[in-house]
Amino acid sequence: KDHLLKPRNIGHMAEPDGVGEVTGTECGDMMTVYIRVGGGRITDIRFKTFGCWAAIGAASLLTETARGMTVEEAERLSIVDFEGDLAGIPSDKEHCVELGMLALRRAIENYRFRST
Ligand code: FES
Repeated sequence: KDHLLKPRNIGHMAEPDGVGEVTGTECGDMMTVYIRVGGGRITDIRFKTFGCWAAIGAASLLTETARGMTVEEAERLSIVDFEGDLAGIPSDKEHCVELGMLALRRAIENYRFRST
């Protein structure tokens, strides 16, 4: 609820190391995640979305959690890791919660592609 009322890390990032964008297959809403990486860790992360309240709150929580993680740790994040924090979110909003995670994985893929 706190992340929904005061979302963190919203907005565009200039010159990110990786960008991931996804469109929800169930609702058509979009999510973009930007990452900056240093020493194999996510040093900065931001998101933009046209998604609903659940997507915004979950992406805020996700970005706060992923900051400081290694890219390998961050790409393994799943909805299971946030079960306690997301208690009360209706099951029909799970796809909204996963939107940020999918965009983060794409951003990591994009970072790896740019790094090779
Ligand atoms: Fe599309 Fe929630 S309904 S992100």
